[in-house]
Amino acid sequence: MGVLKVKDSDGNSHVLDAVEGWRVMEILREHGMPIEGLCGGACACATCHVIVDAAWVDKLHAANDEEENMLDTVPSLASTSRLSCQIIYQEELDGLELLLDGAGI
Ligand code: FES
Repeated sequence: MGVLKVKDSDGNSHVLDAVEGWRVMEILREHGMPIEGLCGGACACATCHVIVDAAWVDKLHAANDEEENMLDTVPSLASTSRLSCQIIYQEELDGLELLLDGAGI
């Protein structure tokens, strides 16, 4: 177990219990965060877009071409944008800080 630290588009902060091996998108949805994840994690919708705190970017594997292509469709793209369905939660990501789309950008 560990946690995700999430700021929503209303500026509220949330600390969410995370489960190893789950997609970050699934963890966000499990806790009722307003994230759609319409394609179920198939990297085909970009509705699971999040912005990763800059301090955590180097701890994530790089986005592959498929993810990069989907990210290009996000209107509110930031330099640390990712698709949360493409991040698998692992112990070393305990405390990962994310902004939901629309939060603070
Ligand atoms: S859930 Fe569709 S791209 Fe992530």
